[in-house]
Amino acid sequence: MRSPVIVVGRFALKFARNARGRASNLYEATLYRSVNSTRRALLCPVLWVSRRGTVQIMRAAKPLSDMMSLDEYMHVTEVWDYVPGEDSCPFEPKASDWGWFEGRMVALDYSTPAWEADEPISA
Ligand SMILES: Nc1ncnc2c1ncn2[C@@H]1O[C@H](COP(=O)(O)OP(=O)(O)OP(=O)(O)O)[C@@H](O)[C@H]1O
Ligand SMILES: [Mg+2]
Repeated sequence: MRSPVIVVGRFALKFARNARGRASNLYEATLYRSVNSTRRALLCPVLWVSRRGTVQIMRAAKPLSDMMSLDEYMHVTEVWDYVPGEDSCPFEPKASDWGWFEGRMVALDYSTPAWEADEPISA
């Protein structure tokens, strides 16, 4: 939806390729702004998003080389502390979705709830 993400120095630029990409960019920007500091510590910071979500600027993180362990994933979901009724917990354990930023592990892609309720899109 937004690949390839272009990393320039301290910034990662996400360019939406389609409507889902734009929804994902907007979702991450809004989520990052609206959550409390405990949750925010798990999210790679979004610095800016264009009005319709075509472009988003995130801080650049160092991607993980291996998938996180079950323990690590359980730890982050516990810290997130999902409350029934709100959007689902926004991240998955795959390595490409996480990175190191300022000494902590943060989610780079936390946009799944932005479109999981959509109709399936073929190809
Ligand atoms: N802030 C960041 N710093 C460094 N790399 C990043 C950052 N954000 C994303 N990336 C890299 O770019 C990839 C794609 O970003 P992201 O998952 O957010 O977009 P996507 O639209 O879901 O694309 P994909 O379908 O490839 O997962 C990530 O898996 C990660 O490797
Ligand atoms: Mg992704």
